[in-house]
Amino acid sequence: MNAGVLGLGRALPEKILTNSDLEKMVDTSDEWIRTRTGIRERRIADDQTDTSDLAYQSAVEALKNANITAEEVDLILVATVTPDQPFPSVACMLQERLGAKKAAAMDLSAACAGFMYGMITAQQFIKTNAYKYVLVVGVEKLSKITDWDDRNTAVLFGDGAGAAVMGPVSEGRGILSFELGADGSGGKHLYQDENIVMNGREVFKFAVRQMGESCINVLEKAGLSKEDVDFLIPHQANIRIMEAARQRLDLPVEKMSMTVEKYGNTSASSIPIAMVEELEAGKIKDDDLIVMVGFGGGLTWGAIALRWGR
Ligand code: UT7
Repeated sequence: MNAGVLGLGRALPEKILTNSDLEKMVDTSDEWIRTRTGIRERRIADDQTDTSDLAYQSAVEALKNANITAEEVDLILVATVTPDQPFPSVACMLQERLGAKKAAAMDLSAACAGFMYGMITAQQFIKTNAYKYVLVVGVEKLSKITDWDDRNTAVLFGDGAGAAVMGPVSEGRGILSFELGADGSGGKHLYQDENIVMNGREVFKFAVRQMGESCINVLEKAGLSKEDVDFLIPHQANIRIMEAARQRLDLPVEKMSMTVEKYGNTSASSIPIAMVEELEAGKIKDDDLIVMVGFGGGLTWGAIALRWGR
């Protein structure tokens, strides 16, 4: 069985935090943030909205778009580093709230590469016929672990959720190849110690190298080349990192997703949110070859070559 995406959903808090708002909070400027990261604004969830609330909203939309009921879901995987609490998992909270009675449920921790890890884990169950429908959610309320006095990190992150219902798709469609990786020796460059601590330059160097390499690797594994790529959806961390991946694939600007401007870096949710937006904008069509690639704390990375369509 080929595993593919049957339906997508997203949730974004209403509150917008602009670069000029941040100028009043830390020693920074709109100009610095825009030129160094590409970010203009990001969404911040209110005190009443926790990670599971965002996850729930995106999951309901994904199930509706997939035309699948919650009772049909076999497994719920939630990629997050900002769960409501260590346990019960956000996945279990979702299971209850959705009424997904038969679903197994667990959270998965791979930081910004979490959605890639989630999709690929789901694929294994679907491919082997063990499960039919897997709900994969990437969700983050990073604002609750952001040090709002640290200009190195406060300007980068945002809150949001994206969900995909995955299941069997027709031959030739769905996930064609993947790559997952980790390098625990780089854990010291990006971690949580109450709040997010980051060595931006080290993460930047790793990301530029890894994103490009992983894209090339998944294409090779699928027996495809750069020319076959219709659309690139990179983790939305920093426009300069994403540009490096785009150039490595020799893709024109209009073939890369760019939501970082509006939402900042929303970690595990950035790739599914971008997927929803590109689909809505009509940029992704059936049988298009999509390359998705993420990297994050751990260090972790993951990429997927996917032929769009059910
Ligand atoms: O999902 C994974 C999460 N992490 C990432 O994706 C982060 C990857 N790294 C990056 O995106 C970039 O490294 C940053 C955007 C974080 C920083 O950009 P950079 O071009 O690597 O800047 P830098 O760290 O080399 O800092 C340049 C200067 C420094 O000043 P000095 O030491 O040269 O005087 C910083 O203190 O910019 C300063 N700076 C700022 N200035 C104004 C750092 N943050 C800010 C800020 N506003 N917000």
